[in-house]
Amino acid sequence: MLPYASLTFLSIATTATAACSRSTLQSATTALLAAQTAGNLSALPLSPNTSYIENDAALALSSSILTKSVPIDLSRSLHDTTLCATFTEIISATGSHPYVIMTRMLFTADGAAISRIENIVADKGDWLFNAQASLSKAKDEVWVDIPEGKRDARDVIQAAGDKYLDSWSDGKVSVPYGSPCARLEGGSYTTNCKMPEFPKEFKDAGGAKNRRYVVDEEVGAVSIFNDFPFLDPKKPNGTSSTNFVRVEGGKIRYIHEVTICTQNNCGR
Ligand SMILES: *[C@@H]1O[C@H](CO)[C@@H](O)[C@H](O)[C@H]1NC(C)=O
Ligand SMILES: *[C@@H]1O[C@H](CO)[C@@H](O)[C@H](O)[C@H]1NC(C)=O
Ligand SMILES: *[C@@H]1O[C@H](CO)[C@@H](O)[C@H](O)[C@H]1NC(C)=O
Repeated sequence: MLPYASLTFLSIATTATAACSRSTLQSATTALLAAQTAGNLSALPLSPNTSYIENDAALALSSSILTKSVPIDLSRSLHDTTLCATFTEIISATGSHPYVIMTRMLFTADGAAISRIENIVADKGDWLFNAQASLSKAKDEVWVDIPEGKRDARDVIQAAGDKYLDSWSDGKVSVPYGSPCARLEGGSYTTNCKMPEFPKEFKDAGGAKNRRYVVDEEVGAVSIFNDFPFLDPKKPNGTSSTNFVRVEGGKIRYIHEVTICTQNNCGR
């Protein structure tokens, strides 16, 4: 055990170096919404070499969705001060080209600049895509901040999301589904969150892998970007997918899944 004085010192030292604060990250997600609305990158605190991937393909930012003006009907963001990362869900249902966009941003150690952006950009033809249905369902959900004292630890939140993904390969995994629990999958909505085990090809391909997380204890949520095999025959190693999971009291309350298809509804 460290003496109390050392702990105090450590916490001061951490505060002094942790420039990746919630407010810095919040400024960045505010800038992201401004940039995406305007289709203008200049609002974003980019670093000289910010890397960018869109639906798992490396792209120049100058060719990205961020250069298209997308009206935003609904957005929700997570701010992860531990990983120095953010996640933003954007639903655009009323513009001429409907989108649902899931954006994960990573930052330099001081939080000052974006080092990497990973975007999942879904539109017509992607898995169960229906932006209007997504908007109307997502709008009715309550994602208010969890009061202090009722917040789950980040490992509890992340484990709940991981168990959900793990259960697709192994139906024996015990997933902490809440009651109620609702899943918005593309534009399809169900209050039965339990998923059956997927076929053997899914497991043989390693299940939902390359998991990349953003966790926010205040919102009680995790977003898990992953490569989802089996669904799209043209992407045997996995297509871009994300599960945005809200956890209340250790139990899953909401799941939003967005999955990209190379062909209409992944050929299904
Ligand atoms: C982007 O915004 C900047 C700053 O407001 C402005 O100078 C620039 O002209 C804009 N670019 C485009 C393509 O609209
Ligand atoms: C940009 O590249 C330089 C040189 O490779 C590297 O040291 C630096 O960490 C990179 N910055 C970011 C934000 O990735
Ligand atoms: C799948 O992954 C394997 C091993 O990394 C690679 O050799 C193969 O080209 C990949 N297939 C596709 C379609 O990307």
